Amino acid sequence: MSNWRVGVEHVVAITGLTHEGMGVGRIDNRVVFVPQAIPGDQVRLRLVHVKERLAYGELLRVVEPSPQRRAPSCPHALLCGGCQLQHMDYAAQLRWKRQQVVDALERLGGLEVEVLATLGMADPYHYRNKAQLPLGRQGGQLVMGFFQRGSHDIVDLHTCEIQHPLITKLALAVKRAAGELGIEPYDEVRHSGVLRHAVIRVSFAQGKLMLILVTRTRELPHSAELIARLTREIPELVSVVHNINPRVTNVILGRETQVLWGEEHLLDAVGHLRYAISPLSFFQVNPVQTRVLYDLVRQNLRLTGAETVLDLYCGAGTIGLYVAAQAGQVIGVESVSAAVEDARRNAELNGIANAEFHVGRAEEELPKLIQKHTAIDAAIVDPPRKGCDAAVLRALSAAGVPRLVYVSCNPSTLARDLSQLAGLGYRLGPVQPVDMFPWTRHVETGVLMSRL
Ligand SMILES: C[S@@+](CC[C@H](N)C(=O)[O-])C[C@H]1O[C@@H](n2cnc3c(N)ncnc32)[C@H](O)[C@@H]1O
Repeated sequence: MSNWRVGVEHVVAITGLTHEGMGVGRIDNRVVFVPQAIPGDQVRLRLVHVKERLAYGELLRVVEPSPQRRAPSCPHALLCGGCQLQHMDYAAQLRWKRQQVVDALERLGGLEVEVLATLGMADPYHYRNKAQLPLGRQGGQLVMGFFQRGSHDIVDLHTCEIQHPLITKLALAVKRAAGELGIEPYDEVRHSGVLRHAVIRVSFAQGKLMLILVTRTRELPHSAELIARLTREIPELVSVVHNINPRVTNVILGRETQVLWGEEHLLDAVGHLRYAISPLSFFQVNPVQTRVLYDLVRQNLRLTGAETVLDLYCGAGTIGLYVAAQAGQVIGVESVSAAVEDARRNAELNGIANAEFHVGRAEEELPKLIQKHTAIDAAIVDPPRKGCDAAVLRALSAAGVPRLVYVSCNPSTLARDLSQLAGLGYRLGPVQPVDMFPWTRHVETGVLMSRL
């Protein structure tokens, strides 16, 4: 009988790692993907999903460990979908992340560019300033945590090695309080129940917390008792926000938000700048490495104080404001209006008078800005995972912007966009991966480009 079917066990040498963090091995010229396995491992696996040329295996036992393997230090590592590389030595992760960028640029972009060693963290733990935690019921118990890898079952959180400890402390208090007050968690299957997610943000600079409770219903039952209890138990909590998301959707946040108690913003800092962050605005999740990334951007821009600098996809204006003291003028563009309000407030908060921010899509706002400002000397582009609209890159090139710094959280779209920019006459400088997300598969990269 064929050995290529569900349930059959094999011993396989793992030789690669996908961008999702799954080990890759071969069985008679067919490919098998194995979560929790890394290159250099010999593993015993059971086939769990089989197609003609490829299959997925469940790791049963590591027969011979890779020299890059470590024992995961988090008790949730096996199931939790939050980290994918808990079982890989940190130095090996950094090398793998660099290789991810090299491979994407070569294979997808057809580019040969110098890629520097990944800038890692000296202490790669407890770095996250934000967590989005779903709630639910499992076996009658209220649970709250992270989705399991590849499913919507919730891993009930007790501890987390990548979140700031205050986030975990508040998360556990929310779960306890919701359970004791009888606030029903959301049921995804029936689209019933109340509390869908707790989104928690922490300011590293101030050690303060913001809690966003996302409900399906307009009302949050027992909200007064809940707030009284949480603020008593967690003195670091300074803001409680209610967000309503009545839709059947995987999107976490709904459109309606109101502050129930305390501050409207969380105050944080990166390097010399202070930032006010509103509940729904994008803010980089790793403040320690954000500083490394922003310093890299500033260095690469080589500003003299006279330049007009665009900050496209600017979020709460964080990068543009970071470099404003070295620029003549900074112009930010961002599609979320609350983030632009934050950006303007942040300029004021830091006494920065040479920065302006526009609400709109980069692809629509850029042509108008180019018409208005005769010379744009440099641009920072930091798009979401899907990368830049091709029209944005064409417009930057047509306007003759001499220097670009591209910040990317997705090597595939980075490769596509850099390839377009190379075709438009930009020379690609060294590519610098920065590890914003230790123990996960995610890779952040900064690249300098100058016009030939
Ligand atoms: C990766 S974040 C970068 C934010 C910021 N540069 C920072 O470092 O905090 C990408 C931002 O692009 C915004 N965005 C998404 N699509 C956009 C578009 N078409 N035009 C302008 N902004 C967009 C998102 O709302 C988000 O704030």
